[in-house]
Amino acid sequence: MVKICCIGAGYVGGPTMAVIAIKCPAIEVVVVDISKPRIDAWNSDTLPIYEPGLDDVVKACRGKNLFFSTDVEKHVAEADIIFVSVNTPTKTRGLGAGKAADLTYWESAARMIADVSKSDKIVVEKSTVPVKTAEAIEKILTHNSKGINYQILSNQEFLAEGTAIDDLFKPDRVLIGGRETPEGRKAVEALKSVYAHWVPEENIITTNLWSAELSKLAANAFLAQRISSVNAMSALCEATGANVSEVSYAIGKDSRIGPKFLNASVGFGGSCFQKDILNLVYICECNGLPEVANYWKQVIKINDYQKSRFVNRVVSSMFNTVSGKKIAVLGFAFKKDTGDTRETPAIDVCKGLLGDKAQVSIYDPQVTEDQIQRDLAMNKFDWDHPMHLQPTSPTAVKQVSVVWDAYEATKGAHAVCILTEWNEFKSLDYKKIFDNMQKPAFVFDGRNVVDAEKLREIGFIVYSIGKPLDGWLKDMPAVA
Ligand code: NAD
Ligand code: UDX
Repeated sequence: MVKICCIGAGYVGGPTMAVIAIKCPAIEVVVVDISKPRIDAWNSDTLPIYEPGLDDVVKACRGKNLFFSTDVEKHVAEADIIFVSVNTPTKTRGLGAGKAADLTYWESAARMIADVSKSDKIVVEKSTVPVKTAEAIEKILTHNSKGINYQILSNQEFLAEGTAIDDLFKPDRVLIGGRETPEGRKAVEALKSVYAHWVPEENIITTNLWSAELSKLAANAFLAQRISSVNAMSALCEATGANVSEVSYAIGKDSRIGPKFLNASVGFGGSCFQKDILNLVYICECNGLPEVANYWKQVIKINDYQKSRFVNRVVSSMFNTVSGKKIAVLGFAFKKDTGDTRETPAIDVCKGLLGDKAQVSIYDPQVTEDQIQRDLAMNKFDWDHPMHLQPTSPTAVKQVSVVWDAYEATKGAHAVCILTEWNEFKSLDYKKIFDNMQKPAFVFDGRNVVDAEKLREIGFIVYSIGKPLDGWLKDMPAVA
């Protein structure tokens, strides 16, 4: 029986290994992590992450050929294939701070593999890493090898949160990069045979190591660039009276552009886009390509602009002050169908409103009060370090309340800001909400989920990203 061990039981390690286990009953899969609370949660009825369909997959194979453990060294020593899916955050200090990927966790995992291994291993990069990381890892392993043969593969993961299980069951492609040597090719074939249990062969792409590593950064940069492009258009639409949904539909009909990933929003979030683009920018700078670096940097700048533009719109519409006013925030996760808040635009929007002394009342169906308070108290880039994965109680931000109901959040509020596109926000009783709010009552829809015309009929003043402004908003000073 082939044995797989995955180091890192997070958003990637957990779901990817659960899917390998269910699709390959003859393979034993063990997911290990240094965080005991995380492993305990994986072994409980309440998994540590919310992901549609994940519970069923885990329950079908946990205890059979899928295991979660904190005994990292034992399972690494026993494995034939080791996936490394630890976090690779942005460096917060030292050389490359604020841009470069922090490989501390990756390096310590590699050193541990070298320490405990007694047999040949295939080591698979699942974490998103800078180009040429495989070479560095190879050096760590081979310098400590004790005669053991290590083959390093890059198998970058393209799943998106909220649709992870579907993405893993039917990936657009699986990408495997390896050394172009007989041993390297053999290792690629071994990993390919795992995915071949359910992925059609033509969807399994093999490349050299560096192409595989760079393809991941490139894919995320291209995806994020589409959102920044449509968000930049949304600002122009508001200024001219065009409608960004109509523009997106019209351009998406061009088969060269395609219809997906063209939804204007309050900004993109998530643990990957910003981190990976900053990493790409840093690599370009290190390779003497400042023009290329600046090109990609602009994707992040537009995203920051979109978030601050939203806050400015809220404040300027409400007589240029939200001081002491109750603002209801519906949705805190970075997208629907996840409880993940990493780099969610809600953090910057809430901080902006709090900076103007608003009282913020937040409701999200999947995010806890503790998580929201921690996010609002944390410094930029600190979220991706394991100490923040531990349940500590931050000092609560006093102007913030977190409630478990959209009606409670909006009661007595001056304005509602919709920051995540949860389906339930489409079907709320907005008449009831309006009746319980201060007047004039505002809705700022950062995800274009509500029917603005219907809400205007009720009496709301409505702002929708990239849509023609209603009379009230037009009369207010322009926002920068
Ligand atoms: P995560 O923070 O959810 O999980 C990482 C886990 O690794 C944590 O539980 C942490 O405790 C554990 N860990 C860190 N060092 C360890 C060590 N030495 N030994 C054992 N466990 C250790 O992160 P994630 O979202 O799963 O992302 C993991 C990697 O995958 C990152 O490089 C990320 O960029 C990449 N990625 C993420 C996504 C996504 O949607 N989240 C998608 C594709 C790729
Ligand atoms: C992303 C990539 O899609 C995935 O391939 C990679 O493996 C990890 O990073 P993820 O961050 O989980 O996945 O979600 P994604 O669906 O890409 O959304 C990212 C952000 O962009 C979210 O905040 C989402 O709301 C926003 N978004 C997405 C838009 O604002 N408009 C869109 O049209 C699409």
